[in-house]
Parts: sequence; structure tokens; C-alpha cells
Amino acid sequence: MRVLITAGPTREPLDPVRYLTNRSSGKMGYALASAFAEAGHQVLLISGPTNLDVPDGVDLIPIETAAEMFAAVEHHIGRMDTAVFAAAVADYRPASVSAQKIKKHGETLTLEFVKNPDILGSARGKFAFTGVLVGFAAETENLEANAREKLQRKGCDLIIANDVSKPGIGFDSDRNRVLLVHPDHSEPLPEDEKHHLAPKIVREIELLAAKP
Ligand code: C5P
Repeated sequence: MRVLITAGPTREPLDPVRYLTNRSSGKMGYALASAFAEAGHQVLLISGPTNLDVPDGVDLIPIETAAEMFAAVEHHIGRMDTAVFAAAVADYRPASVSAQKIKKHGETLTLEFVKNPDILGSARGKFAFTGVLVGFAAETENLEANAREKLQRKGCDLIIANDVSKPGIGFDSDRNRVLLVHPDHSEPLPEDEKHHLAPKIVREIELLAAKP
């Protein structure tokens, strides 16, 4: 299969020396990229800034902003069989980027934000993607219900749901515990290293791709 994976955070500039971002190490997305490549698939990784090495056999398109990630996905998704959206995309970006460093003035500072495009939410509609579509959901409450709602709203075949309220797993951790949310059932995977979870998730996605 040709597999597109988004991973890592996006970085939304505020001025020449500052940006807003999301807490994401990129570890889960990179572990999936590595596991797909090891299983013999052709992988295109579209990633925000991380400290991780690009896995062997994986093509990387580095991006910074959500708008750049959107453009890269829009350009490449048409020839993909599977798309996995593991990136932590900033929902909003500063309405304007200051050309000069914002100086310290008053006691408070108010910033205005505008909405970023929803990349996963554009897959079925704007991008007319018909392959296997997998999203992630990081929730702090009502994990399964929120993930299932997202699966339906975004037209996904599978949502990999992380409970990010639990310390020691998820964000920036090497470990994770996920719930695989399918349209008609859910399956919890035991807590494990992201590198051990990734091949299991790849096998799940291979099964979805093999379905008529
Ligand atoms: O709606 P929410 O942001 O929680 O959805 C999470 C899923 O959507 C993740 O798979 C994430 O990669 C994707 N996403 C995206 N573009 C956005 C926001 C989220 O692709 N602007």
C-alpha cells in the first residue's frame, strides 16, 4: 500500500522569534511510519518539527504550519491507499504574524486567532479520498463517545483514541494505551511501548484495507 502519515505538532508563528504549538513528540506517528515501512508498504510522512530520526525507507516532507501540512496532504493524498492522521494540528493560528518582535508593553497582551483548516475533516469531502482513513483522538474525558462522534463526523474507518488525562502515557511518552474505535465496535489494546503498539495498529489497518 501507499500510506500517507501526518505526525508531530504544527508550529504557528506569532512574530520572528515566537510560535504557538501543541504538545506532541511525534513518537506515535513515527512509530507507525516505521512499522508500515517494515511491513513492506510505501510510506510518505508529512511531519511538523520533532527530534526524531526519519525511519528507514520512509519519505519525509517536513512542514511547520497547519497551512503547509494541509497543502502537502492535498497534493499527495490522491495517490494514496491509506491515510493516517497522527499529527497534533493547531486548531487556530495568530490572525496576523508580526514582522518585528512583539515588544513588552502593558500588563496584558491580547492575541487574535483564526481557525486553521481541518485536514482530516477535508479528506472525504474536499480531497475526495476514497482509501482507508484513520484519525487519532486525544481526549481527557468521554474517550469512546468523543472518538466515535469524530469517526462519524470525519468519515473515518478507524479512530485511535488516547486518554491523555493519564500521567506517564500519551504525550511525549514512549508508552501509550489506545482504544481502537471502529464504526460498530471498540477494542482496547493493552498499555505498551509505542514501538510495540505500532505493528499491531498496522495489522488492524491492513485488515481494513483488505475488506471489499
Ligand atoms: O478534531 P480533532 O483535532 O480532535 O481531531 C483529531 C484528528 O484530526 C487527528 O487525527 C488529527 O491529526 C486530525 N486533525 C487534522 N487537522 C486539524 C486538526 C486535527 O488533520 N486541523
